[in-house]
Amino acid sequence: MAISTLLRCLSLLAIVSLAAADSAGKSTDENPGQIRLNCGESGSATDADGRAWAGDAASKFAPSMPDAAAASASYKDPSLPSLVPYTTARVFASSSYTYSFLVRPGRAFLRLYFYPSNYGTHAASDALFGVTAGGVTLLRGFNASQTALALNYAYLVREFSVNVSATGTLNVTFIPSSSSSHYAFINGIEIVPTPDMLTSAAPVVPTLANGARPDPMPIRADTAFQTMYRLNVGGESLSPTDDSARLYRSWDNDAPYIFGAAAGVSYGKDANVTIRYPASVPRYVAPEAVYASARSMGPTAQINLNYNLTWILPVDAGFFYLVRLHFCEIQYPITKVNQRSFDVYISNETAREQMDVIAWSGGIGVPVYTDYLVVTAGSGQMDLWVALHPDVATRPVYYDAILNGLEVFKLQTYGDNSLAGESPPISQEQAVDDGSRGGSSKKRKNGFAAALGGAAAGGLLAVLVGLVCACVICRRGRKAAPVLVSEPESSGEQPVHGLPSPNKSSALFNSAQK
Ligand SMILES: *[C@@H]1O[C@H](CO)[C@@H](O)[C@H](O)[C@H]1NC(C)=O
Ligand SMILES: *[C@@H]1O[C@H](CO)[C@@H](O)[C@H](O)[C@H]1NC(C)=O
Ligand SMILES: *[C@@H]1O[C@H](CO)[C@@H](O)[C@H](O)[C@H]1NC(C)=O
Ligand SMILES: *[C@@H]1O[C@H](CO)[C@@H](O)[C@H](O)[C@H]1NC(C)=O
Ligand SMILES: *[C@@H]1O[C@H](CO)[C@@H](O)[C@H](O)[C@H]1NC(C)=O
Ligand SMILES: *[C@@H]1O[C@H](CO)[C@@H](O)[C@H](O)[C@H]1NC(C)=O
Repeated sequence: MAISTLLRCLSLLAIVSLAAADSAGKSTDENPGQIRLNCGESGSATDADGRAWAGDAASKFAPSMPDAAAASASYKDPSLPSLVPYTTARVFASSSYTYSFLVRPGRAFLRLYFYPSNYGTHAASDALFGVTAGGVTLLRGFNASQTALALNYAYLVREFSVNVSATGTLNVTFIPSSSSSHYAFINGIEIVPTPDMLTSAAPVVPTLANGARPDPMPIRADTAFQTMYRLNVGGESLSPTDDSARLYRSWDNDAPYIFGAAAGVSYGKDANVTIRYPASVPRYVAPEAVYASARSMGPTAQINLNYNLTWILPVDAGFFYLVRLHFCEIQYPITKVNQRSFDVYISNETAREQMDVIAWSGGIGVPVYTDYLVVTAGSGQMDLWVALHPDVATRPVYYDAILNGLEVFKLQTYGDNSLAGESPPISQEQAVDDGSRGGSSKKRKNGFAAALGGAAAGGLLAVLVGLVCACVICRRGRKAAPVLVSEPESSGEQPVHGLPSPNKSSALFNSAQK
């Protein structure tokens, strides 16, 4: 009797503590060093995900702001994902303003939240400004309402990866454009310290398609990046609280970026497949949900041979991009080498032939990712293409391809230390829509990547600089095409298994074949 009561109490306790742990994991528990500032507010507030935001009015990161007014948005668009931090803003009308954040030196995500709206006497269409952080221009001549309109979003999130210098201070400055009617505004600022996820992938540039050679290699320890796209290919959108390692990244569904009607098939992992992260792919690289879903070309070889499974991603021309592809085989019967093999094209250039995920990862359920460096020329907007096509040369069992995740990061330029692109153009129809602002029927309710990146089509010339780095695990007894591999930057990292140790200056070599 007593024992069964005790057991019942214990199981109740277990459930309660599980629930507590869950809510802690999902919301309130923070990575040390994270900062969320709700601009134009004094008290603290909680967003729709349950994360706490401190008001900037009394913040130690916001020294006196005599010329900066707190303001509330005149209209709360129903498509806003959360009222906090979007519906209040700090407005800088007459002069620049600098927030000084104390942050652990090293890599951090800096996220800027913008909700273009009328703020007090300031009309939404008069906002025009620049933003710098740590000496890099993040935005220049930024017309938030035009950008939001072009992307068909009510709000914008701009995510950057910056290297906080050894002083432990990150200065973020808002600079209104010169004319007296223009002003700058910001609704929310989020800083999340991260592992060194991008520069450690530092690719070595091989011979270039067009014979040109970026010199020196454009990825440095202190390079600033802007996230353009982060797609959970073949899977659902993941909200910040679904992300791994509490990095609060958003992962968007890839369907809106697929070219034409040939979208292939999307699917989840077989129930009996477990995602097993190898040492070379730390969990923070991407959450399990990204690897546990995928998109393939379809069941019919003849159809697959006649098309390319293609994603079209509008970007700003004139920058380098790091394109990261995430792979993981997740369904039976694909467990062996040379069952599925395919070619990867980026902007119509061959980035990789004979991609065999099993050969590369070592087995079903094992994630692997690979980075390519793309340079674009010109200015304005252009489209980046990523395309997959079955490889026929190795006569695989299935003429098919697979992709689980896709990320695109813009690299800063070095001459003028800038990440700033031009405002995307708006169409005639969108301009008309803007006149009747207030309705949100046309706004996309979900999705984040478009809010992150650029949009609109252009079509300038893109040159694939080179295919590069790969985060690889080479396993025993496999046959693989030569792989270009770069050494992880942090020397404390695990070695790349089965590969000869590269030397620092030429970290480019072929994988060993056994
Ligand atoms: C940040 O940049 C400095 C050089 O400015 C470099 O020494 C350091 O390794 C970088 N840290 C990271 C995490 O990139
Ligand atoms: C911002 O863009 C909108 C839409 O194109 C335009 O009406 C407005 O004048 C622009 N604002 C400024 C300050 O350039
Ligand atoms: C940040 O800005 C403050 C105030 O404008 C300035 O005193 C400080 O030197 C700046 N720090 C860095 C690292 O730029
Ligand atoms: C896992 O399930 C699939 C069917 O969903 C089956 O074909 C496969 O043999 C199973 N594999 C193992 C190892 O149980
Ligand atoms: C790739 O080729 C297609 C047609 O073959 C063309 O329409 C498209 O503009 C090209 N893309 C790039 C980025 O060059
Ligand atoms: C797939 O894309 C590549 C590179 O742009 C191109 O050469 C090839 O013709 C395309 N194949 C099909 C079937 O469209």
